Amino acid sequence: MYEHDYDQPEQLPMRRSRRTKNSVGPSRRGRLTEREKARLARVREEAYSDPVAPDGADRWSTWDRADQGPVPRPDWVVTELAAVDHELGVLKTGKEADVHLLRRGLPDGPQVLLAAKRYRSSDRRDFHRDAAYLEGRRMRRSREMRAIEHRTSFGRNLIAEQWAVAEFGALSALWSLGAPVPYPVQRDGTELLMEFIGSPDGAAAPRLAQLRPDPDELHELWLQLVALLDLTASAGLAHGDLSAYNLLVHDGQLVLIDLPQIVDVVANPNGEYFLQRDVRNVAEWFHRRGLPESITDVDGLIADLLTVARG
Ligand SMILES: Nc1ncnc2c1ncn2[C@@H]1O[C@H](COP(=O)(O)OP(=O)(O)OP(=O)(O)O)[C@@H](O)[C@H]1O
Ligand SMILES: [Mg+2]
Repeated sequence: MYEHDYDQPEQLPMRRSRRTKNSVGPSRRGRLTEREKARLARVREEAYSDPVAPDGADRWSTWDRADQGPVPRPDWVVTELAAVDHELGVLKTGKEADVHLLRRGLPDGPQVLLAAKRYRSSDRRDFHRDAAYLEGRRMRRSREMRAIEHRTSFGRNLIAEQWAVAEFGALSALWSLGAPVPYPVQRDGTELLMEFIGSPDGAAAPRLAQLRPDPDELHELWLQLVALLDLTASAGLAHGDLSAYNLLVHDGQLVLIDLPQIVDVVANPNGEYFLQRDVRNVAEWFHRRGLPESITDVDGLIADLLTVARG
């Protein structure tokens, strides 16, 4: 279990079944009495001063101190104060963030797999991208601005946290629209916890870029992408870094990920450019895999999406 080579997952066969949730074990939780809640809260409080997590776990659940995801919440989200987190391994390391696999639950209760995206605050980050992002988002407190400009460790951490905040907001907005994105469970500092897209044994869904779909499957995935783009545009948004690497395919369904740089198509002076670049990037992948340009009609699609986005 959990010993997959996450950076080079096997190509999975395409299936048409509906996307399934990743809850492991029973997903319904019992209701706690107020007294029991208070007792568990005390246990938790003591645990914070106790660095040793219980039963070989890596930490107590950080749920109650984090920004929590949009409601109504899926029923598999573990909200119990006495839950613990187990680190199961690294799904992917990147320049800007590392993504880890986490299991959260009560020792004898429901367990759920989560993807933990942890933004880096180290020198390895791409400061160019940070500068572009922070432009126009002036921080009011000059201490924070100075820390960022001087790249102190405090400042670097603030930047990393801003990315986590931005991605959590984007996922929350898109989830609430009904778009196929991982449910954003919580955000705490530079760490974002979201629904794990993959199988219950911890194998992550492959990126679109790794697949060689047959012509029918390719066409079906394109139609899903157009629906996804249409929904995003209807909210006035564009992904901003769309590619076949930021789309996962789970049980035949596309799932959009990696959204910290989401763009407001109308308010952003380069909004139109980002939307066009997204569509051309990903259409290019479909063409290389053999989908005819007469089907994708990229120029027509861009024109439609811009009309929708301008609402
Ligand atoms: N919710 C998730 N469920 C399963 N796997 C995920 C999830 N989120 C991310 N991953 C895995 O982690 C990889 C990196 O995630 P993401 O693209 O969000 O981060 P990134 O730092 O931008 O990485 P990159 O620079 O490679 O794009 C994904 O390609 C995917 O394999
Ligand atoms: Mg990515």
